[in-house]
Amino acid sequence: MVPLAEQFDLVIIGGGPGGYGAALYAGSAGLSVAIVEKDVVGGTCLNRGCIPAKAFLETAAVHRHVEHAAEFGIEASEPKVNFAVTQARKQKLVDGLVRGVTGLLKARKVVSYAGVGSLGADRVVTVQLADGGTAEIQGRGVILAAGSVPRTIPGFDRGGPIMTSDEVLMLDYVPQRVVVIGGGAIGCEFASTFADLGSSVTILEALPKILPGLDDDVTNIVVRSFRKKNIDIKTGVSVNGHTPNGDGTTVHYGDGQNLDVDVVIVSVGRRPYADELGLQGTAVQVDQRGFVEVDEFCRTGEPGVFAIGDLINTPQLAHVGYAEAILVTKQLLGENPMPVRYDRVPWAIYCHPEVAWAGPGEEAAKAAGFDVVVAKHQFRGNSRAQIIGELDGLVKIIAKKNKDGSAGQVLGVHMVGPWVTEQLSGGYLAVNWEATVAEVAEFIQPHPSLTELFGETMLSLTGRSLNT
Ligand code: FAD
Ligand code: NAI
Repeated sequence: MVPLAEQFDLVIIGGGPGGYGAALYAGSAGLSVAIVEKDVVGGTCLNRGCIPAKAFLETAAVHRHVEHAAEFGIEASEPKVNFAVTQARKQKLVDGLVRGVTGLLKARKVVSYAGVGSLGADRVVTVQLADGGTAEIQGRGVILAAGSVPRTIPGFDRGGPIMTSDEVLMLDYVPQRVVVIGGGAIGCEFASTFADLGSSVTILEALPKILPGLDDDVTNIVVRSFRKKNIDIKTGVSVNGHTPNGDGTTVHYGDGQNLDVDVVIVSVGRRPYADELGLQGTAVQVDQRGFVEVDEFCRTGEPGVFAIGDLINTPQLAHVGYAEAILVTKQLLGENPMPVRYDRVPWAIYCHPEVAWAGPGEEAAKAAGFDVVVAKHQFRGNSRAQIIGELDGLVKIIAKKNKDGSAGQVLGVHMVGPWVTEQLSGGYLAVNWEATVAEVAEFIQPHPSLTELFGETMLSLTGRSLNT
């Protein structure tokens, strides 16, 4: 029997966005909460993911601006990179945000346990405390939020020049020659960062295109922009291993081809991390790929035990973890929340040019059996894009075709170009509100603004238009 003092409404294992999100939301709703974290609160996202990767990308953006300053009438000298400063700035940012989350948890009276948590029967979590000893705590509800770790590939063990995102984000110099294995979200963000900072970058992607899953029109613009940065993109290739040499390593790929590089970034996906969760004596199931199995309400097979975030087979995004945290907490509060609509969550990739979307692209909508009407317009015709000197990109809207051939419900909004990660919210709302083209076209966008392109693309789907 766990003493009353160690009983909580909610016990959470894992302090990443899923876990700390649940703790903060449940704390704000008056539940008593305990959270167990074996490392640093904030998880992958804050310490080794979203935040540091975007901090690097911002340094790359500053470099681009200084390089192009003369076009705006500002005479600056050739930019020089001091990446040790970038690394220190990133770490200061991360440390500050970790302190912020820690403070918020305290303010909501969340009890934090530093150590490894494992779940046994009756929703009892045993904590191997970091400073020695164990603690046993019990939750009326338990959330497993142990997250994910980088996947690796045979022949590319981490160490020396072979890095995953964990190691890349600790670099204090810019490697001269970089190969990125895997052209997904992580690969493209790093490729963009280092190419903008002067590295020579090659992407080796196994599938026929980088950023698989994206609408083709969007991918084509990213590919064109990456080529302008001299990023060498090789698709449909497999890597066969590498041979370390004095300066770095030689990567073997394809049909006997070799590439000499200083750093290899392995970004071939992330695997769920259920390794230390125990789970003996529970009905929690883990599938063959390591994901904890849940239903649409994030319920595992064990009553009162839920799993969220990267640990389950849903989009591996921090904000999806937050949404799942809220979904579970509402159930613990006796409410009847709607499941997360995973096919409509917002996606944002922060490479240059940025990519953002919600809902299916054209090919995916057609494959799902929809008869569609599509409109797409380029940023190069948008006045604000010209003012800021960022012309590459487009907005593409996919709508259901009405019986009379006109455009009806908005299915998908896909964007590539300047600051689109900050412009998606209107499109996200349209898709998730199940709004029609005619309804959204009524809304006014400020002028001059980048978001006008979204408004004008929507307007053009009504059959009439202004500037597009
Ligand atoms: P995690 O953040 O992985 O946290 C899990 C936590 O659980 C960790 O702190 C771990 O130490 C702890 N833990 C594990 N097992 C135990 C245990 N047994 N006991 C105690 N503690 C345990 N997503 C976005 O939405 N936007 C982005 O821009 C973005 N960029 C990214 C860039 C990179 C380079 C990477 C790697 C990821 C990025 N992601 C991004 C993905 C995002 O980081 C993850 O989706 C998110 O962190 C998942 O949250 P989580 O809480 O499920 O797991
Ligand atoms: P990913 O799944 O996005 O991309 C992995 C890529 O590697 C795919 O294109 C895949 O085809 C390729 N690949 C797999 N094995 C390969 C091999 N042996 N050789 C060559 N290519 C191979 O995974 P990634 O980029 O590691 O990111 C993991 C997750 O983190 C993402 O899926 C995303 O959910 C999240 N993330 C989100 C970001 C954002 O929202 N801005 C940024 C970075 C990551």
